[in-house]
Amino acid sequence: MAPKITVIGTGYLGATHAAAMAELGFEVLGLDVDPAKIELLSAGRVPMYEPGLEDLLRQHVAGHEGSSGRLRFTTSYEEVADFGDVHFVCVNTPQKQGEYACDMRYVDSAFESLAPLLRRPALVVGKSTVPVGSASRLAARLSELAPVGEDAELAWNPEFLREGFAVQDTLRPDRIVAGVTSERAEKVLREVYAAPLAAGTPFVVTDFPTAELVKTSANSFLATKISFINAMAEVCEAADGDVVKLAEAIGHDERIGKKFLRAGIGFGGGCLPKDIRAFMARAGELGADQALTFLREVDSINMRRRGHMVELARDAVGGSFLGKRVAVLGAAFKPDSDDVRDSPALNVAGQIHLQGAQVTVFDPKGMDNARALFPTLGYAPSALDAVRGAHVVLHLTEWREFRELDPEELGAVVDDRRILDGRNALDPEVWRQADWTYRAL
Ligand code: UGA
Repeated sequence: MAPKITVIGTGYLGATHAAAMAELGFEVLGLDVDPAKIELLSAGRVPMYEPGLEDLLRQHVAGHEGSSGRLRFTTSYEEVADFGDVHFVCVNTPQKQGEYACDMRYVDSAFESLAPLLRRPALVVGKSTVPVGSASRLAARLSELAPVGEDAELAWNPEFLREGFAVQDTLRPDRIVAGVTSERAEKVLREVYAAPLAAGTPFVVTDFPTAELVKTSANSFLATKISFINAMAEVCEAADGDVVKLAEAIGHDERIGKKFLRAGIGFGGGCLPKDIRAFMARAGELGADQALTFLREVDSINMRRRGHMVELARDAVGGSFLGKRVAVLGAAFKPDSDDVRDSPALNVAGQIHLQGAQVTVFDPKGMDNARALFPTLGYAPSALDAVRGAHVVLHLTEWREFRELDPEELGAVVDDRRILDGRNALDPEVWRQADWTYRAL
């Protein structure tokens, strides 16, 4: 019989994983400690903007008309423990307040809540991004607390989904990494992922520490690639070169590759920034901090981009923000997402506001989250309204709809036709032809 699946934690990762598992044909029970989230998901609604996720959820959530009924949600660990053969732990691991280290409290509490209730054999599968060494510690805790003892086993199976592509990345991952300590655990994971495996997805079997490190090293590599191209942007600026052309040209070398070479205001979000910091902190604990000192530079190049954007904007309005109106297009940390966690766009908007400008922000999906985080900024219901009367327009999140804006229409309402492209994503010619002063980072 197919294993029954539970998913603990229903954020980006968990909600997507639960819906994807139901899509693959499994009976799934999702758990969250937040009853409001469970109520929303049970009604077929997703608490964040993620393309395709709500549709997928509605195809499976029990009680929704025409759904498969394979997906349910609960707040009860008892129910989860009784129901599941495989328990995916998908809770978040944020950065600790005021520290680089990762905050493990949600992972720990998921294990402490579930393990004492496991009265029948189960595989607990960790998906959260954790400091290396966590899985071994959690495995010991699991068999210590579980009434079934050694029959409650742990596997570590990191997740590589990108926000904005969460559904496709989960249904068709480019690799599956299985950190296991027994053949039984490997067999169960192969059964759960039978569909992507049949479609040819590589399956990498490894030990716990390697599985944990694959995740943090992958994100560190991606962050390094972005900071590398942003460092080249600094040099290009000093030497009058063009970093967009440079990225295109070096990207033709397949060993380098074209992806993740877009220079701009840098990376943000709930993953890359905190993951590289947590990785440095953990390496320090292990006595391997020297190996990762370059990540400090990756982080500081990234933060410098935000400051540089603020400087360019200040220069553009004549050297002081006092009495100036600045329009900011974009609040989410990247397009196709409403996530504003550590968003470079909002950080820049916030800095400019603190320096005395009147800042008005528009984002297609991130407005509510932005308002909650930065209530003192101004918000407008459209791009056109945001730029009304602006002395400078900043393009900070590269939504498709911003690329399709009409420079003539916007030009008619701004105070000064001046645009700074913090993402190198607009077509300079289109803006210049409409008499805008266009400048990119
Ligand atoms: C990232 C990884 O890409 C996923 O593989 C990983 O699973 C995920 O973190 C995670 O750990 O959960 P995500 O945070 O959704 O995914 O976003 P990315 O697409 O990686 O973008 C991160 C940031 O880098 C964004 O702010 C984006 O604007 C910026 N970026 C990306 C650039 O500045 N330049 C680029 O060329 C690419």
